[in-house]
Amino acid sequence: MKGIILHGGHGTRLRPLTHTGPKQLLPIANKAMSQYALEDLKSTGVTEIGIIIGDVYPEKVKEYYGTGEKFGVKISYIYQEAPKGISHAVRLCKDFIGNDKFIVYLGDNVLRKNLNDYTKKFEASDSDAMILLCEVDEPQRFGIAELDKDNPGKIKKIIEKPKEPKSNLAVIGIYFLTSKIFDIIDNLKPSWRGELEITDALDMLMNQGNKIDYDIVTGWWKDTGTPEDIIHANKLVLDSIGTENQFLIDKDSKISKNIVIGNGTEISRDSIVTGPAIIGKNCKIGPSVRLGPYISVGDNCILKNCTLEESIIMANCDINAKVDLSSSIIANSSEIKGNKIPKKQQFLLGERSNLKV
Ligand code: G1P
Repeated sequence: MKGIILHGGHGTRLRPLTHTGPKQLLPIANKAMSQYALEDLKSTGVTEIGIIIGDVYPEKVKEYYGTGEKFGVKISYIYQEAPKGISHAVRLCKDFIGNDKFIVYLGDNVLRKNLNDYTKKFEASDSDAMILLCEVDEPQRFGIAELDKDNPGKIKKIIEKPKEPKSNLAVIGIYFLTSKIFDIIDNLKPSWRGELEITDALDMLMNQGNKIDYDIVTGWWKDTGTPEDIIHANKLVLDSIGTENQFLIDKDSKISKNIVIGNGTEISRDSIVTGPAIIGKNCKIGPSVRLGPYISVGDNCILKNCTLEESIIMANCDINAKVDLSSSIIANSSEIKGNKIPKKQQFLLGERSNLKV
């Protein structure tokens, strides 16, 4: 089987973070979001991977993943000139896929459980597609599957972001497909948002009498479209950090219970780290720093006098200020300097921000 990771899209809801790179490279627990997808594919035995890149800094994706060799996979890059939908992106992969069964993984989706059981099930089946469903609180935000009450195990309808959803089962962004999907996509019309929807393709595939299986995912699944989603995904991953293979970190890191500390990082005696937390390599923490719970700090950060919880501080940041931050994302190479801010603050700072408080 081959794998496809979608790495395009504009990530408008994540600005300013996406002004300097694609959203799928934003770190969750110090690892690029799409790396979870790549590692998930690899661990289920899929090592030939096509990455669809768009027009938001595609060169940064190539720089990060290269040929795939250092991740133990072989990567081909496929260019999508505009974000015209998931089905459009999938159609671009026809030559790459040939007649294989394949898995499409949206690079901004993170799933707790690995894909092994689902992959085995799909490989052994004669189904033309398999989707994964997850109960959600706001079904209007997702593709939704309505199950057929009269025919257990069958799906009745798959519909993209319905205004009045008839179920709360979201179709998550991991699709098991066969080459049958390509002809279907050729006959699709763009949706109201001008995209060729994967949900419309799946619905059409089903209506033409093809077999679609589904499974309901256990554990959590997260689509990371907004800063709040990213902070939440960071919390979910940190909850299992150091304890689950799938989320394992750099082998040189020190792990004590639920705190991971990278090589060369120094923490002053008067600073306190409360887990779950991950701190990258070569950071200088202290004096008087309070970190955590649920904090990710990238490599080479200098943190002084600050209190940070439920936040992501990316690499090379320099914070020397009596700030008390929560639910914040501070992008690479940002600086916060100055004196006391009286109460808890929430910052969303793009790359190389410079803030005097
Ligand atoms: C896309 C799909 C949607 C699916 C979601 C999962 O939505 O169109 O069906 O439920 O991913 O992440 P989008 O992120 O394009 O709004």
